[in-house]
Amino acid sequence: MRQVDIIIKKRDNIELSKEEIKFMIDGYTKGDIPDYQMSAFLMAIYFNGMTDNEVFYLTESMMNSGDVLDLSQIDGIKVDKHSTGGVGDKTTLVVAPICASLGVKVAKMSGRGLGHTGGTLDKLESIPGYDINLTEEEFINQVNTINAAVMGQTKKLAPADKLLYSLRDVTGTVPSIPLIASSIMSKKLAAGADAIVLDVKVGAGAFMKTKEEALKLARLMVSIGNKFNKKMTAILTNMDEPLGMAVGNSLEVIEAINTLNGKGPKDLNELCILAAADLILEAKKAKDMDEAISLAKRQIENKEALMAFAKMVEAQKGDKSYILDINKFEMPKYTIPVEATKDGYVEKIDALAIGNAAMYLGAGRQKIEDNIDHSVGIVLSKKVGDKVNKGEAIAFMYSNKANNELEYDMILKAYNIGNNKVNPKLILDIVK
Ligand code: URA
Repeated sequence: MRQVDIIIKKRDNIELSKEEIKFMIDGYTKGDIPDYQMSAFLMAIYFNGMTDNEVFYLTESMMNSGDVLDLSQIDGIKVDKHSTGGVGDKTTLVVAPICASLGVKVAKMSGRGLGHTGGTLDKLESIPGYDINLTEEEFINQVNTINAAVMGQTKKLAPADKLLYSLRDVTGTVPSIPLIASSIMSKKLAAGADAIVLDVKVGAGAFMKTKEEALKLARLMVSIGNKFNKKMTAILTNMDEPLGMAVGNSLEVIEAINTLNGKGPKDLNELCILAAADLILEAKKAKDMDEAISLAKRQIENKEALMAFAKMVEAQKGDKSYILDINKFEMPKYTIPVEATKDGYVEKIDALAIGNAAMYLGAGRQKIEDNIDHSVGIVLSKKVGDKVNKGEAIAFMYSNKANNELEYDMILKAYNIGNNKVNPKLILDIVK
């Protein structure tokens, strides 16, 4: 087999075999196939797409490029969740504790934030002491004892994806449905859970800009998971505005804690209850979705989910007193209101621009090796559908920099204020 022949076949839109795809992935992971050939291959996939069989073989080869976790030592049904990447998305910090408090086993590996999207690991690390580096044995023991662990992805998990993602990032081949589906699913399958809920974001702040594209991606990922005997659900959610009010690491942890205290923003609360209920049902802790939803809500009301979060933080060497008292989180030097320049209703908030403004304030990184400031970010005070008066604060910037003109302007421009009172819908569809 020669790589150039496989590239030509893909260029000419002829279906590749399992062996040919495996040859490309194994060869690239070992360093036998150079970047220029893999770049051409990725671009051919970008333009010609892939058949379902090709995506399945690609996912399988990427999954098998490293370790596949064996979670059989954990009793019961293991669950996991994944979001395709959004702004203000702190759902894991709420969903995992709700599930754990009901005895659902949450074994989750998360990533860091890049660009305008935040990462769960960065958020967790804003809790002093929180250790994201567990060994496989520690991870399994923790899930067995307190039902939940959220750790960093190990280097040995789907290494082909790490290499391919870096190459896609610099070759214009990230926004390809087969490449996104295989990237996400190879990692999820290697992480070993039995049931997976996927949050597929749709809108300006997401990879998928339209509901049609997002549905295609969701159906593809669900079918890949099903082929590997995983119980799959994909929830399509609106990313035409940030999720919740807070964007930035400790600000988002605070919002997650408020949600676990029953005081969360409406949209965040709605999504967390739905995602948790799906996993509760898949883990057979409820007889139907109605009961699963009631249980999820009850665990917030009785503070059991909050206690489960404190337990998880403590188990991973974090200071749990922060979970019980949010005033302990360090606040940055400056809190700056961003004021509306006219009267009207918020019609749209560009989530991508808000995510980028938070990144420039220091909450996110442009390159994976950049340092971040956990304390800074943005808290929106107006969401889509809200009425605003000229001069009123639409958002607050939390910053350690004296000069924040650029970020101020970005936030102001991210808000579309007009005469129409829009009623935003968060949950756009569910694919099973
Ligand atoms: N998230 C991933 O893990 N991979 C992609 O390709 C896109 C989003």
